[in-house]
Amino acid sequence: MNKLKIKEILKTGEPGAFIKISGWVRTRRGSKNVNFIALNDGSTIHNLQVVADTGKFEELLLREINTGAALTVEGTLTESKGSGQNVELMAEKIELLGKADPEKYPIQPKKHTLEFLRENAHLRFRTNTFGAVFRIRHAMAFAIHKYFNDKGFYYLHTPIVTASDAEGAGQMFRVTTLDAVKPPLTEEGKPDYSKDFFGRPTNLTVSGQLEGELGALALGEIYTFGPTFRAENSNTTRHLAEFWMIEPEMAFYDLKDNMDLAEEFLKYLISYALEHCSDDLNFLASRLQQEEKNKPQDQRSMDLVEKLEFVLNSDFVRITYTEAIDILKNSKPYKKNKFQFPVDWGVDLQSEHERYLVEKHFKCPVILTDYPKNIKAFYMKQNDDDKTVRAMDVLFPQIGEIIGGSQREENLEKLESRMKEMDIPTEEMWWYLDTRRFGTVVHSGFGLGFERFILFVTGMGNIRDVIAFPRTPKNAEF
Ligand code: 4AD
Ligand code: MG
Repeated sequence: MNKLKIKEILKTGEPGAFIKISGWVRTRRGSKNVNFIALNDGSTIHNLQVVADTGKFEELLLREINTGAALTVEGTLTESKGSGQNVELMAEKIELLGKADPEKYPIQPKKHTLEFLRENAHLRFRTNTFGAVFRIRHAMAFAIHKYFNDKGFYYLHTPIVTASDAEGAGQMFRVTTLDAVKPPLTEEGKPDYSKDFFGRPTNLTVSGQLEGELGALALGEIYTFGPTFRAENSNTTRHLAEFWMIEPEMAFYDLKDNMDLAEEFLKYLISYALEHCSDDLNFLASRLQQEEKNKPQDQRSMDLVEKLEFVLNSDFVRITYTEAIDILKNSKPYKKNKFQFPVDWGVDLQSEHERYLVEKHFKCPVILTDYPKNIKAFYMKQNDDDKTVRAMDVLFPQIGEIIGGSQREENLEKLESRMKEMDIPTEEMWWYLDTRRFGTVVHSGFGLGFERFILFVTGMGNIRDVIAFPRTPKNAEF
């Protein structure tokens, strides 16, 4: 059964056609003779205008057609005199499926703040802004699968519950059974976790990379795309405790190949959005322009669509971490003591530094490579200088780090000795080291933070507004 959608009606609906359509009321404007109902079914940012002659319908029915109510309408399409739409629907029959009491329904037709809508995350899909964001998010997820499938990569499903700490940073959530919420004590008086996941301490995964490497070293090129979890207590507009990550992993790729893939991939997604999500992007762009109006001319940011086109047409700058530190140390904010965090060779870059490089210095996306080994994970390929590793971070305007990746250490001895240096248990990771024992090859991969990318594409300012149900230190109710 193919149900009719408003998107199709607005695009191809012929005046004279008799149709039946269901959706939710955005607004109703009534006059003595006629009611205009803006109906939306989620298929598009645009509403279908339903015209209901007052004489044709019960007064009570019309009065209950309030914002948020669900309707099925049957009627005839007619040419519309209103601007921006070809057709409207002359209602013959209206069925009120679900009422929405205007005294109680929170999403009224007025401008709600994003904070208010975050508190009403269960209903915010019904606003234009969140409709647009989640349609774009869907399109991007689809485009990711299309991109990799067309290139011959395999989608590998890596586990969510795992005993390994892929990033070695200890930022993991423990998985436990309800019985073990209050663990009994051992004879030594320590908590006894023997009931955890059948007697093994496990965590929610922080990354699918290590398992992805196992796949790549047999299937050639794979990617993961799933939820990942970080127990970092970061209350920022760029961090979630649960976020989705796309992690391609490729055999026979060195760092240069890895960078080329990352740049091509990001540009593919941006061009896909421009081609397939123009209505929603234009809506979000005009929403942002409204906000920008209050700012002085020289502080206004670029139009959303222009920004996407700009990144699409730019060559990403590729420099080393060491070069970036030099640039930062010669920058105005550094000299005027305007950076909040220190800049020196060896420190991890903060988003203020990343954004300076991208937004002020180069004015385009930047790929930084060859970071100090001490601020990066154990699995990255070590350079001959003994100080740096073949890491790459892709930095984007408005976001900072959007991708983190590297060439992997494929040499068993070097990998083992680095793990020992970093106190990572080599015995427990025998399965990972086996890939270096048997048929090891040069390989690379990276992780794209899906929500950070959606932030960039939609121009939204807070990561909590691009995932349906954000998990943050303060947010886990539903
Ligand atoms: O740089 P990260 O930690 O790298 C990894 O996890 C590697 N295993 C990836 C790989 O090489 N396969 O994370 C990768 C990306 C970051 O660049 C960022 O976009 C996103 O994941 N990310 C987060 N997004 C939202 N909230 C958080 N707490 C995030 N932490 C990382
Ligand atoms: Mg990183």
